[in-house]
Amino acid sequence: MAVLGILAALGIFLGAANAATLGVVSTEGGMVEGKSNGVGLFRYMDVFKGVPFAAPPGRFQKPVPHPGWTGVLKATGFGKKCLQLNEFQTGTHGSEDCLYLNIWVPQGHSVSTGLAVMVYFHGGAFLLGESQGPNYLDNYLYSGEEIADRGNVIVVTVNYRLGTLGFLSSGDSELPGNYGLWDQHAAIGWVFRNIKAFGGDPSNITIFGESAGGASVSFQMLSPHNKGMIRRAISQSGVALCPWAFNSNPRTYAEKVAKKVGCPTDQNMISCLKKTDPFRLTLADSVSLISSASNPLVKTLALSPVVDGDFIPDDPSNLFSNAADIDYLAGVNNMDGHMFVFFDVPSVDQPLWITPVEDVKKLLTALTKEKGPKAADSAFQQYSSSWSSKPTNVEIKKTIVDIETDYIFLVPTQTALYLHNKHANTARTYSYLFSEPSRMPIYPSWMGADHADDLQYVFGKPFATPLGYWPHHRRVSKYMIAYWTNFAKTGDPNSGPSEVPVTWPRLTGQDHQFVDINNSMGKTSVKQKLRSRFVHFWTNTFISFPNVN
Ligand SMILES: *[C@@H]1O[C@H](CO)[C@@H](O)[C@H](O)[C@H]1NC(C)=O
Ligand SMILES: *[C@@H]1O[C@H](CO)[C@@H](O)[C@H](O)[C@H]1NC(C)=O
Repeated sequence: MAVLGILAALGIFLGAANAATLGVVSTEGGMVEGKSNGVGLFRYMDVFKGVPFAAPPGRFQKPVPHPGWTGVLKATGFGKKCLQLNEFQTGTHGSEDCLYLNIWVPQGHSVSTGLAVMVYFHGGAFLLGESQGPNYLDNYLYSGEEIADRGNVIVVTVNYRLGTLGFLSSGDSELPGNYGLWDQHAAIGWVFRNIKAFGGDPSNITIFGESAGGASVSFQMLSPHNKGMIRRAISQSGVALCPWAFNSNPRTYAEKVAKKVGCPTDQNMISCLKKTDPFRLTLADSVSLISSASNPLVKTLALSPVVDGDFIPDDPSNLFSNAADIDYLAGVNNMDGHMFVFFDVPSVDQPLWITPVEDVKKLLTALTKEKGPKAADSAFQQYSSSWSSKPTNVEIKKTIVDIETDYIFLVPTQTALYLHNKHANTARTYSYLFSEPSRMPIYPSWMGADHADDLQYVFGKPFATPLGYWPHHRRVSKYMIAYWTNFAKTGDPNSGPSEVPVTWPRLTGQDHQFVDINNSMGKTSVKQKLRSRFVHFWTNTFISFPNVN
């Protein structure tokens, strides 16, 4: 007994002296070597940055496999971000040569094998962003380290083409579009073929993403091209059915770009666009942030995936049978629309400013434009029905946030969840609402979770940069990492090695159950039929109005 105890202690001691690490890994393109970091007592992390998953892409071409390299590729720096507008829309940064991914592999006493894999697609309106995300306090937002360490999964984060170079489409076979989606698909294929060499289980791949990344996840599930590669998927605040995520008339936008770069809009348009300097094409993406209640920002976002007859063969709502065996977890933040309201109705954030009822009417008129004034009246009835006889300023402001949240994120997400559940074969469906209040001190006291507020918790920032957070923020983060990584391992957010605060029931066709995620979770966090009156309005009443003109 004593001897065994000494031997065990010695084993632990030797384990500490020699960090478990993969060292050089052999992939289909050649050998790669990352970096091993200590992340805790007997916990290490192998990190591979800037691994190419495809060759530098041809302009408006699908990605092709990387030709490979000789020797050992040092994977210690992030790849260049894909060419995109700068913050002020005055220039560009990034490169056309941008198809790289990053891998975080957790290690304990010995080198890990058979780990579940989580592949992340960043957001940014299909215009902006990069695999590692912005850097705050010397910590990248999408660093996979905390999820990988706390959940014992492999995390992969991915670049894909953006803006005009990623999504321009003429709506026909000349320039079919969806290049960014093909890039994501190439990354999924690369992970499927190579992750075993990193200790991953290719039969346990979960894709996840937020905003345009959440919509990307949804498109990857709905495409017939990923069959057998994706086991599970998580969409945070974005699905393929969101009005900004899908363009049914891309030719109009292509003509706008053509005019901006000095190309004709006749039969020579495509050949001219193909010859145009990529920096000028990218500058043509600029979005006017001068919006208003009558001209809301969401209506100006036009560069997005399209039906191309190949990757996306039909309207997304008709493709859910392709996801019949992919477990799905999706949800929204309770004030996801606030970020848009910030631009459209700035008075909402100023406690001393009055937001007139007229702004509610203007906003609804703009959002329901294609159905004419009767639809706008009907929408106003819905949204004003719970007001007191003389609505307070706060009631009006919250209604504006609710309208944008419902229209831009919540209703399309509920629709995607219902369709997923309806078409499911082996797949399970889980729905959430995230309601941890925003940490922005300048926002009103009634503010809930803004768009993208969930990211810091899923990526464990309250642990990685603890000085910026309170203990209750670490609780939210722990809950989300537990649900997300249990789900990645088993297809059920409740079952797996991580303890969860309350059992999250599956969404079913009758009860439409969901969990409300915030820092104080318990039995009352399980709820039903998220905003069902408004979901019903937009998906039934509203669409039954005939289109005007
Ligand atoms: C996925 O991971 C789970 C848990 O580690 C394991 O039981 C299962 O065999 C793996 N593979 C598949 C196909 O589920
Ligand atoms: C957190 O969730 C609980 C349970 O659903 C709810 O009662 C509470 O209002 C939520 N807190 C916030 C700040 O939304």
